[in-house]
Amino acid sequence: MATNETGNNPSAGVNTITPAKGKLGIMIPGMGAVATTFMAGVEAVRKGLAKPIGSVTQMGTVRLGKRTDNRTPLVKDFVSLAGLDDLVFTGWDIFPGNMYEAASTAKVLDKDLLQSIRPFLESIRPMPAVFDQYYVKRLQGTNVKQGKNKRELAEQVRADIREFKKKTERQVMIWCGSTEIFIEPTVVHQSIAAFEKGMEANDVAIAPSQIYAYAALMEGIPFANGAPNLTVDLPVMQELSRKNNAPICGKDFKTGQTLIKTVLAPAFKARMLGVSGWYSTNILGNRDGEVLDDPESFKTKEESKLGVLDFILQPELYPDLYGDIYHKVRINYYPPRGDNKEGWDNIDIFGWLGYPMQIKVDFLCRDSILAAPIALDLVLFLDLAARSSELRGLGIQEWLSFFFKSPMTREGLYPEHDLFIQSMKLKNTLRYIQGEDLITHLGLEYYD
Ligand SMILES: NC(=O)c1ccc[n+]([C@@H]2O[C@H](COP(=O)([O-])OP(=O)(O)OC[C@H]3O[C@@H](n4cnc5c(N)ncnc54)[C@H](O)[C@@H]3O)[C@@H](O)[C@H]2O)c1
Repeated sequence: MATNETGNNPSAGVNTITPAKGKLGIMIPGMGAVATTFMAGVEAVRKGLAKPIGSVTQMGTVRLGKRTDNRTPLVKDFVSLAGLDDLVFTGWDIFPGNMYEAASTAKVLDKDLLQSIRPFLESIRPMPAVFDQYYVKRLQGTNVKQGKNKRELAEQVRADIREFKKKTERQVMIWCGSTEIFIEPTVVHQSIAAFEKGMEANDVAIAPSQIYAYAALMEGIPFANGAPNLTVDLPVMQELSRKNNAPICGKDFKTGQTLIKTVLAPAFKARMLGVSGWYSTNILGNRDGEVLDDPESFKTKEESKLGVLDFILQPELYPDLYGDIYHKVRINYYPPRGDNKEGWDNIDIFGWLGYPMQIKVDFLCRDSILAAPIALDLVLFLDLAARSSELRGLGIQEWLSFFFKSPMTREGLYPEHDLFIQSMKLKNTLRYIQGEDLITHLGLEYYD
């Protein structure tokens, strides 16, 4: 009988990983607060001005073997990841300003820090975007591509990608653009042929984010989706991803309130404490908050934020504890706060014999400070996935669920939202592709 804390790794000796040689090009549709904080942060770390706090790839470790083995390398020493010095940035935005101007508008980082890396930020200028105000009502900009239909716009994005391929060895695309209006999958999303015909007919169900995703996947480039739009969460994109060995993941960076929710809810469930209500509200004053003030964009975000509790608490398994929860999520645009969001949670729980209790959480967070390291980790891990023989053809990279509010899964499979399950899944995947034993946490062997 196996009593070990570590389990056999079925992939030992099977997976191969091509080394991360040369420049990794990062292509970002949507160069606003998150994107500029990400790029400026990478440059600040490269110059030794700050530490990459919050980044699993840069600061995280992974335990290997038994607890008595004392083998705990840094993630970046354990798996072959692109180094920060090898990252090169480009992207698209509807505002033509360079990244110094965009970061100054976003007002996330101090002026002094921006000054110290000003030439780097000024050297990056967004390419004209694929944009249509129908999909983001509160935005208007001039740096926009023109074309006779959506297919032609996709071809223009592919041409941008091919140009960038000349300057970098490998590329990854990450959507840091605004949240688009709520869209449901239709027949145009069911196959590559239907999608291409749909683009030619300017089908309304094809939003700009889907056009970038199509272009990236056609060019064999991995794609991560930081917003709650469907984007790659569609059969056509999954088909393209598998076909072209271009891994995908999404959706919606798990940064503030939902991060805390996916820590607290598993604790209640582990202790079999009931929950009768969970009221979450936010005030936020950045451009993202302004976009989300539009009910159609908010609906997309709301869907993404609401799903979490049902999946974690499983009311169908525990009707007495979670069968009757009132869950509400609000986001209020409040300009004075800028990017420094405040998220309140009032949680009504109940314990032994049904006696009620309350928990209040007031998280005074910084949205883009929390999101930037996630963007970094995602591009590095997606690039790793594209170089791994075991991962590159899978399409959805479920092991990256850790980073998302609304993790993508194969059809018919429920997502894992519990942060600790997600963390274990991520680290076991790294062990798996490196041929190390998986960790089960059983551990009877220490007492034999
Ligand atoms: N910061 C967080 O904590 C967090 C967490 C989860 C998700 N997100 C999502 O990340 C995204 C970016 O957030 P942000 O705070 O940087 O917002 P932002 O408004 O500062 O930046 C978004 C940028 O995208 C651009 N844009 C919109 N549509 C575009 C298109 N079709 N092509 C190119 N550019 C386009 C806008 O002009 C803007 O500059 C949002 O969708 C947000 O909901 C952010």
